[in-house]
Amino acid sequence: MRQACREPETKVSRGVRGLGRIGVVRKDPFYLDCLSLNGERERDRLFCRHDYRHMVLVSQISCKVIKQTGGLNILVKTEGLSGIRSALEVVYAAGLLHDMGRWRQYDTGEDHALAGSVMAGSVLERAGFSKREAGVITRAIREHRKALPGQSYLGRVLCLADDLSRPCGSCGARLDCYKYEYMENIKKETLQGMRWMPVRR
Ligand SMILES: [Fe+2]
Ligand SMILES: [Fe+2]
Repeated sequence: MRQACREPETKVSRGVRGLGRIGVVRKDPFYLDCLSLNGERERDRLFCRHDYRHMVLVSQISCKVIKQTGGLNILVKTEGLSGIRSALEVVYAAGLLHDMGRWRQYDTGEDHALAGSVMAGSVLERAGFSKREAGVITRAIREHRKALPGQSYLGRVLCLADDLSRPCGSCGARLDCYKYEYMENIKKETLQGMRWMPVRR
């Protein structure tokens, strides 16, 4: 069953409310089906679910990181986007879609970042993103799990936002989590100064 995509109200979400293509992504039937499949596969998962709330958090953190570092202009220049509005929609859409392929990993063992980048293509096309914009987004989704040589700027931001989005300190499963220490270190380092190259997971 499809879940309703009600977004937590924040400064960032208020900022993207007027961005029409994000609204289309959020209501895309295939996207909603993927979220439902993620939910079904993670019904018994105790921590780090890949649900809509996680997607929104990653979008919001990515936007904050990019805005604070002047990254919207960097994206416009390096990726040849049409302007700030396009860059903002690209960043937000990448966060919303980055784990849509997680259910496929449970079913087949395929890397969810690779599967998700392919799945996201049709959603982005239906939402009206250009080929260039969709290319930036799908590449970042493909690169969101780990640092890679030549990783794109948005791929690095998405990877960092993904780690920062997890409330590890208050997680009931932290004692059983193999990544707890690593995640807490990332948060400390980020507070001390922006950490641009996420380490391999
Ligand atoms: Fe992921
Ligand atoms: Fe994620």
